[in-house]
Amino acid sequence: MLEVNNINTFYGSSHILFGVSLSIKKGEVVALLGRNGAGKTTTMRSIMGLTAPKSGSIKFRGEEITRKPPYFIAQKGVGYVPDNRLIFPDLTVRENILLGRKKAKDFKGEPWTVEMIYELFPLLKKLDSRLGGYLSGGEQQALSIGRTMMGNPDLLLLDEPVEGLAPIVVKYFGEQILKLKDMGETILFSEQNIKFATTIAESAFVIDKGKIKYHGSIEELRKNDEVKKRYLMV
Ligand SMILES: Nc1ncnc2c1ncn2[C@@H]1O[C@H](COP(=O)(O)OP(=O)(O)OP(=O)(O)O)[C@@H](O)[C@H]1O
Ligand SMILES: [Mg+2]
Repeated sequence: MLEVNNINTFYGSSHILFGVSLSIKKGEVVALLGRNGAGKTTTMRSIMGLTAPKSGSIKFRGEEITRKPPYFIAQKGVGYVPDNRLIFPDLTVRENILLGRKKAKDFKGEPWTVEMIYELFPLLKKLDSRLGGYLSGGEQQALSIGRTMMGNPDLLLLDEPVEGLAPIVVKYFGEQILKLKDMGETILFSEQNIKFATTIAESAFVIDKGKIKYHGSIEELRKNDEVKKRYLMV
């Protein structure tokens, strides 16, 4: 579904990603693991076209999307939930969700509705008319994912979805992400800690200093003390 091949990404003159390659098959849940500043967000921004790579190629469903504008990539079916959640504080929960609504162009399934989002995240239903500015971190994250789902993405990019959340809330999001997988969603999420990743992903890429250092099953990574000690928070 997604093929990232040898991309190099810069912020101004700073070279950040060095020949990053990764691929994700339809229906997979894949972790992008790495410490602070490893290049996780930059990888997602590169895929989304927000910080386009200078070289290399990115294909989505076999179609070249490298250096295409973000709206085009979103229209093709890539949804992005940034790490800062970006909730509009003066809009209600429902209004925030509706902002993500997008025509399901190539989307084959049943288009998402606010009611379906409330089914996925019942906690949001109770907050329907609450202003975005008055939500907890977990509520904001549910809202941010819900809003992105309204765009009917086939591939979902989640940047550190459980960062800063309490353990019980982390567990809850793990379950909801697996629910999305069961509904046929393909998911790439970033994370610093292998523990949460192990509970939802089958395979993982480990990134460090803008280079991919490991790719394989998460079960094998869990046993690989060398890679874990070198590149991850354990
Ligand atoms: N706008 C920017 N301008 C210049 N350098 C940046 C910019 N954003 C990030 N960087 C640098 O790029 C590198 C990779 O950052 P990135 O945000 O991709 O890491 P990350 O893995 O997402 O880290 P974190 O876990 O802290 O979110 C870091 O060295 C960072 O300092
Ligand atoms: Mg980041």
